[in-house]
Amino acid sequence: MKIKDLFETMEYGPAPENRDAADQWLDARQREFQLFINGEWAPPVSGKYFDTINPANKEFLARIAEGGPDDVGRAVAAARQALPHWAALSGHARARYLYALARQIQKHSRLFAVLESLDNGKPIRETRDIDIPLVARHFYHHAGWAQLRDTELAGYREVGVVGQIIPWNFPLLMLAWKIAPALAMGNTVVLKPAEYTPLTALLFAEICRSAGLPPGVVNVVTGAGETGAALTKHEGVDKIAFTGSTEVGRIIRKATAGSGKKLSLELGGKSPFIVFEDSDLDSVVEGVVDAIWFNQGQVCCAGSRLLAQESVAEKLYAKIRARMEKLRVGDPLDKSIDIGAIVAPVQLHTIEELVRKGVDEGVRLWQPSWACPAEGYFYPPTLFTEVSPAHVIAQEEIFGPVLVAMTFRTPAEAVQLANNTRYGLAASIWTDNINLALDIAPQVKAGTVWINCTNVFDAASGFGGYRESGFGREGGKEGLYEYVKQTEEDAFPDKPVVLKKAKPKAGKAG
Ligand code: NAI
Ligand code: MG
Repeated sequence: MKIKDLFETMEYGPAPENRDAADQWLDARQREFQLFINGEWAPPVSGKYFDTINPANKEFLARIAEGGPDDVGRAVAAARQALPHWAALSGHARARYLYALARQIQKHSRLFAVLESLDNGKPIRETRDIDIPLVARHFYHHAGWAQLRDTELAGYREVGVVGQIIPWNFPLLMLAWKIAPALAMGNTVVLKPAEYTPLTALLFAEICRSAGLPPGVVNVVTGAGETGAALTKHEGVDKIAFTGSTEVGRIIRKATAGSGKKLSLELGGKSPFIVFEDSDLDSVVEGVVDAIWFNQGQVCCAGSRLLAQESVAEKLYAKIRARMEKLRVGDPLDKSIDIGAIVAPVQLHTIEELVRKGVDEGVRLWQPSWACPAEGYFYPPTLFTEVSPAHVIAQEEIFGPVLVAMTFRTPAEAVQLANNTRYGLAASIWTDNINLALDIAPQVKAGTVWINCTNVFDAASGFGGYRESGFGREGGKEGLYEYVKQTEEDAFPDKPVVLKKAKPKAGKAG
């Protein structure tokens, strides 16, 4: 019997990751978490709490403190108090703390991975092999930069107290992208995790304590949008770093305008995945799986628009459908699962609404023959073909496992389609002709362009967008500039000077 035939006959058996350590960790804290301010656990002034759940089965996981403006105020004050000492440490001393955090994350990587899967619904295969290793890598990488700041960024200093607001799609990884460079450059931090996924940030807070990080350098204030808004508006914050929806990014930009706060925004996307006719289509299919079914498609840089050259489009769609039929949706803790749960009912609802719009517009929809588990928030991998750029689903970010496909004839047409979006976060180009890829890449307006691969990240490589995908970069040397300011700016006031309008000279018509 051929190996291929053997695989065809093999039965699939679930292989669940053990969750005991995570449950013990939650139980030991009575499944209730306070705010992490000045190195201590503090109850919220309002006395309000909210629940975080496991979206794969709706089970209650823990009660979480809801921080209000007073709590944000206390956290900002703690960060302010910690700032002079932290910023005055040598780069080497700050690096030692960052190395310690990195090592603690590695030491507790299994607990982090299981907690993240429970709280977010993403497959353990991803938290274990992608999220948590990248988190550790980010802290190690920035430990190096802490040591190099004074030589590589001579003439720069820390910005000060940084408010950081992060989303739920990569909870701990977005924490790392924010906290590691901020600390490395000598800033102190108030972090607001997303309301659906606060648990790994709280475990991280514990690790800050056990690693001996000075109190107030990292503060974690949990809560929802209002907590984030209070942080954005707080006068004691010198910079806001935000990752999330374009809609909230707009609100934050307005709220910080004229305040003198430094700002970076990493927002939505509708990234093109461009396939030329000479590509290896089987590799392309695996690329598509990574592009749009990784993390249930809840990825800002998901390759959510498949642009296929007309000559191979139908052949490619057939291969993709065959692969979709074999994807496994289910228990995120099952090591054999490809697609886990959608983070929350509201997100599932958004996906369903947008898919309905596509169907109403008459676009051709394809989903696998099997059904998703019924007890949690799941959505099947979905393919729309014969989409035109005017369709809502071609323009709106769906942020779910839904791929929309369009065709093109010439490279010029591919570029035109790729850029036909409000966003500019990422792009993926597939061809055997490297000259063609290198010719197309700079013509696509995107912060990151991958060639014959997709969703590849590293701490040394800057990430960020253009247009409505935001501005500022995270990772690499370029990302450090978000967390420093030139010392020569110290000669100027922080707040913009309001210039008095010159009086028009009499006698002259204006
Ligand atoms: P969101 O943008 O509301 O949430 C992101 C973070 O911002 C959370 O921590 C949230 O509590 C906070 N926040 C909400 N309102 C705020 C405000 N007025 N001021 C300050 N902070 C605020 O995203 P949401 O509602 O969870 O998802 C909505 C859509 O956003 C998704 O369907 C998806 O399209 C997009 N999204 C994009 C992400 C990305 O990585 N680019 C991540 C999450 C969502
Ligand atoms: Mg949750």
